[in-house]
Amino acid sequence: MPRDDRLDPDRISVKLKTRRIGRKVLVYERTGSTNDIAAEYARNADHDGLVVFAEEQTAGRGRTGAQWQSPYGESLLFSLLLIDCTLASELLSLTCAVAVAEALGTVAGQRARIKWPNDILLAGKKVCGILVESKRVVRPPDSPCSPLRATSDKRRDTTVIGIGINCHQSAESFPPELRDVATSLDLVGGARCDRITLARRTLASLDQWLRTAEENKERVIETWSSLSTQLAQRVTLSYNGRTFTGHCIGIDPANGLILQLDRGGVRMFDAAHTTLLK
Ligand code: BTN
Repeated sequence: MPRDDRLDPDRISVKLKTRRIGRKVLVYERTGSTNDIAAEYARNADHDGLVVFAEEQTAGRGRTGAQWQSPYGESLLFSLLLIDCTLASELLSLTCAVAVAEALGTVAGQRARIKWPNDILLAGKKVCGILVESKRVVRPPDSPCSPLRATSDKRRDTTVIGIGINCHQSAESFPPELRDVATSLDLVGGARCDRITLARRTLASLDQWLRTAEENKERVIETWSSLSTQLAQRVTLSYNGRTFTGHCIGIDPANGLILQLDRGGVRMFDAAHTTLLK
């Protein structure tokens, strides 16, 4: 009889030793996209650190406008809300990848790797995707929870980090075109994983790595580099519709992937405008 790992806000948050992430945890049975729900809560700055989970999404989305689909109860689908995040978007993206890779590694019992910018791979296949969305939000002037209430600036930066981790999928449950490139924790581990444990570890890891990134971004870069599948490899990518090939020589926390181009010169590629081809 498989263990019941239905998402339960109390089981996820009880004695969670985090400072910022998961101060409030919501679980939806079914929603459009957890990123949209988290963004709605940004109207009140007190919701910084909120995490929204769903058993199923009807309009889940991925990077580059792709859909993100998962049958009910098979994944860990969640979004966390950061208000006034001070990290540059490239660094934030790398930090989330490092945090999730570390948590997944402890659950899977093997090292997770990172495919730039923030796909997490186990046994060479994608097990998790991360979608970071940022925008500025206008808050009502009399919002009692807005620390900026006394100032004239009512706009605050809002960042939503959406994470989808494949947990209980069988190989057949992926569409045929994804079977060679996607996997789940159960497939890799050969046993049913526990999504509550996974949720708690991932939130704790995100909380810790987001703090580390504020104080010591070199540590994030070092860890990201040690887990990267691109570093020191030949890479072909599309940037704003143009194709570039080169040798990956590093990552820049503000500007993205650094390539020594085949045609000469060194160039950086930010995640927002770049798609890896090979
Ligand atoms: C990717 O393209 O690899 C990123 C996928 C991110 C999917 C997650 S699932 C939870 C959150 N809600 C969404 O609509 N997308 C993210």
